[in-house]
Amino acid sequence: MKAISVIDKDNDKELALVEVFDVQPAKYEIKVKVKKVPLTTGDVALMRMGSKKNKIVGQFYAGEVVSLGNGVDEYNIGDRVCGLHKNGTLSEFICVSNESIIHQIPDDISYEGAVSLLFGGSAALYFLKKLASMNRKLWILINGASGEVGLLALQLMKAYGHNVTAVSSAKNFAILEQFGADRCIDYTQENIEEYLDQFDVVFDAVGKLNVHRTVAHMSKDSDFITTHVGVELIGTLLKSWLVKSVRIKMGIASFKKEDIETLFELYSVGGIREVIDSRVALKEVSKALDRVKSGAKVGTVIIDFEN
Ligand SMILES: NC(=O)c1ccc[n+]([C@@H]2O[C@H](COP(=O)([O-])OP(=O)(O)OC[C@H]3O[C@@H](n4cnc5c(N)ncnc54)[C@H](OP(=O)(O)O)[C@@H]3O)[C@@H](O)[C@H]2O)c1
Repeated sequence: MKAISVIDKDNDKELALVEVFDVQPAKYEIKVKVKKVPLTTGDVALMRMGSKKNKIVGQFYAGEVVSLGNGVDEYNIGDRVCGLHKNGTLSEFICVSNESIIHQIPDDISYEGAVSLLFGGSAALYFLKKLASMNRKLWILINGASGEVGLLALQLMKAYGHNVTAVSSAKNFAILEQFGADRCIDYTQENIEEYLDQFDVVFDAVGKLNVHRTVAHMSKDSDFITTHVGVELIGTLLKSWLVKSVRIKMGIASFKKEDIETLFELYSVGGIREVIDSRVALKEVSKALDRVKSGAKVGTVIIDFEN
């Protein structure tokens, strides 16, 4: 069967279409025929951190159940499912444990719609979930609101009733407004640091703000949340908290089955929608990798196994 694996090329990591052995479900496993997979900034980060050569890439999937191992009662052949599988999802077939993060796709969501919510939606929920239950309207700035995480963060915060200022370059304002941004700022034209003291929460979805300067410009008793992972910042962040009382949240998102449930519930009432940056056929996977590496995608890049 076909799969996408990491190869070394010109001292860099590339992706290539390879042939691998078919898989069969062991006890408590479900075999899925993969239909759609998002290629994400998370996959690129894992490749950069030294993914082993020949390792199959991809963490999320949507597809159809084609066979069941012994002991699996809760799924049937033909079920439409999606989930997280850390052993690589860019493969025609995968076998996943019935206890892994796997979820039935509701009838009103396509494979593509379901899989496009998983990475950005779970990450946005990980960083912002506690704001859902705030019983007052918050003024939130989302930096990088046009990215995969940012667009889900924008929609979630609007669904939870908050006021959102979205930051990107002006070419993406139309989509930010379509998803409810109350105000847009073009970071290529304006210095957003001048506005930071107006917000209860600053969420750097794209992880590109200078942490020290951002916290210095925020008002007392506000929250700074960033997707940037940088242990080198911990000492300075602690000092910022002591001096400015700015609460800081950073870290590595954990993905939970209950988060997929939340995303699907919001989808079914029209609270959130997928945004597809591009669809790429399996044989053109290096185009998808270039697009993800560009830092300019708007929403999700989908690898399409049906094309
Ligand atoms: N810590 C965690 O657990 C975790 C989880 C998920 C993601 N992440 C990280 O979060 C980051 C975002 O991921 P993503 O998939 O959402 O990224 P993405 O989709 O690649 O984000 C691209 C978007 O960001 C905008 N952008 C680029 N530079 C910007 C800047 N300087 N200021 C404001 N907007 C800018 C671009 O808009 P323009 O073209 O208009 O500039 C583009 O639409 C990645 O670094 C990823 O590794 C971390």
